[in-house]
Amino acid sequence: MTTHHEGLTVATLEGMKRTHGCGEMGLGLVGREVVLCGWVQRRRDLGGVIFIDLRDRSGIVQVVCDPQVSPAAFAAAEGVRSEYVLAVRGTVKERPPAQVNPNLPTGRVEVHAAEVRVLSPAKTPPFYIQDDLDVSEDLRLRYRYLDLRRPIMQKGLILRHRVAKAVRDYFDAHGFLEIETPFLTRSTPEGARDYLVPSRVSPGKFYALPQSPQLFKQLLQVAGFEKYFQIVRCFRDEDLRADRQPEFTQIDVEMSFVTREDVLEVMEGLVAHVFRETLGIEIPRPFPRIPWREAMEKYGSDKPDLRFGLELVDLSDLLRNSEFKVFSGTIGAGGVVKALRAPGCGGFSRKEISELEEVAKTYKAKGLAWLALPPAEGGEVRGPVAKFLRPEELGAIRERMGAAPGDLILFVADQWEVACTALGQVRLELGRRLGLIPAALPERPTAADFKLVWVVDFPLLEYDPEEKRWVAVHHPFTSPHPEDVAKVMDPSFPRERLGEIRANAYDLVLNGVELGGGSIRIHQRPLQERMFELLGFTPEEARAKFGFLLEAFEYGTPPHGGIAFGLDRWVMLLAGRSTIRDVIAFPKTARATDLMVDAPSEVTEEQLRELSIRVEVRE
Ligand code: AMO
Ligand code: AMP
Repeated sequence: MTTHHEGLTVATLEGMKRTHGCGEMGLGLVGREVVLCGWVQRRRDLGGVIFIDLRDRSGIVQVVCDPQVSPAAFAAAEGVRSEYVLAVRGTVKERPPAQVNPNLPTGRVEVHAAEVRVLSPAKTPPFYIQDDLDVSEDLRLRYRYLDLRRPIMQKGLILRHRVAKAVRDYFDAHGFLEIETPFLTRSTPEGARDYLVPSRVSPGKFYALPQSPQLFKQLLQVAGFEKYFQIVRCFRDEDLRADRQPEFTQIDVEMSFVTREDVLEVMEGLVAHVFRETLGIEIPRPFPRIPWREAMEKYGSDKPDLRFGLELVDLSDLLRNSEFKVFSGTIGAGGVVKALRAPGCGGFSRKEISELEEVAKTYKAKGLAWLALPPAEGGEVRGPVAKFLRPEELGAIRERMGAAPGDLILFVADQWEVACTALGQVRLELGRRLGLIPAALPERPTAADFKLVWVVDFPLLEYDPEEKRWVAVHHPFTSPHPEDVAKVMDPSFPRERLGEIRANAYDLVLNGVELGGGSIRIHQRPLQERMFELLGFTPEEARAKFGFLLEAFEYGTPPHGGIAFGLDRWVMLLAGRSTIRDVIAFPKTARATDLMVDAPSEVTEEQLRELSIRVEVRE
């Protein structure tokens, strides 16, 4: 049915009830009359017959408009263009063998139109609605509603829904309750800046949006809910990267009467359930565990990518007296020399090596020394350190590294953490170059494509040279390792050795991405107060900021612990995408802006006056 208003032709859906999705069309429906609704992917005129590829969420099917079958449908089809919205009534027919399209899931059939209604015309979109797209991300974000029409984007958000559903089902089956916590609250320290919201009612005061529900979920344990979870938005004003957004979603969990083992077991169950329900993959359990120190030693990262080896090796004991002053000097000053064997890379060009050196320098290394072993015995060893190494040193290095002819050995000499981190990044770069880190997930991923590992025994505190104080590696509510509680409580424990104290904390890492992190919490007031003290709070500051928590701890607090997973990151990895923006419907740019709705934006004088705010923009 079509009605005409001034300047507007409106076809309604009256009498056209949709029966199927386009993607459901198949041989089983041959002979059936169907009503489809969707967008025109493409229209082709072929010798008096018009073919329309009609697309909806479920897929694409070919619609045939033949004037012999329906002159009216043909006439309507003549006017349509890409992205017009149509309703089509027609009959499903099997395609003749020569016309079967093996690239299309519905390619064995087509729908012969008896009626075509234009529900909505469309301007030519600024880019094609197709998976392979070569336009700027800004343009995609500006027209996000068009970008989201692309099948690959729809797949990502459908997967996201299924992950969230699997998470809720799992927790429900295990006795967890989903409980909401406030967005308008006060600062929760997770290490980023807060987003602030001015209060109209209390002039000059601000709420903070939660960086996580950390304190509320702990207070829900004091309140006796025992098993809490929430799929919850968190807000952090931090520098953005491919796997960070200013607002992102956590799968947030807290449990009472548990030790670390209990938490890890329940969480492995969750991870396995989600992989099974979404990708049909059976993940082997238990997941491997690696202490933080070992992860740093071997992989130069607290989120090691275990899809490949290339482990870092410590050569400090061999090079203590090296003639190469960079090595012996660094070791003498308390540093280390770490090395990495790049198998078969002895033929790398200077340019290739200097690119690796740039990676190392980005992560604060002073340089990247190297040795290229000749492809055959007896050849010449190349590289800036070669001339400084005595034959027995070279032999010892080759043996320690397990080096073979034609290998390249890379060195960083520095303080332990810098040397590990810089060489760890070189390791990742080599992994990409050598194809050890696949560029994309295979069509049908298996368990082997997902390497999960728990990183445990993190340090509790790290020294922040800029702030000149100790800061919490996780957050101030993380309990020390049970064996290290005494050190925390001991007032005579030397301050400079605080970095040795381990936390009862754990991170889950998937393919080198930190998927989640959590800990057993402090649940006694004296220990929590001591923790605040080590972090440099005066008792007054601690009480002003966290008095409610300290007070709550005095009313009977169960031992408790939990974790939070980054939902966006998890879906990104399951979908094989390389940025979380691709699995968030309306993400922000790297400058934390929304290009579609144009946020953030200025507000009126009137709004500012109501909030008692005067704005002074500084350059
Ligand atoms: P944490 O700060 O480690 O822990 O955060 C948990 C997980 O959330 C994800 N994540 C992010 N994802 C996208 N964009 C961001 N800006 C971002 N920041 C963090 C990561 C990370 O592993 N309250 C604690 C958890 C706890 O102790 O239970 C917390 O928030 O995947
Ligand atoms: P230089 O002595 O600065 O000319 O450096 C000689 C070689 O040693 C170059 O290949 C540098 O990249 C490398 N190099 C310099 N400092 C370090 C360091 N701290 N660790 C590893 N290699 C280094």
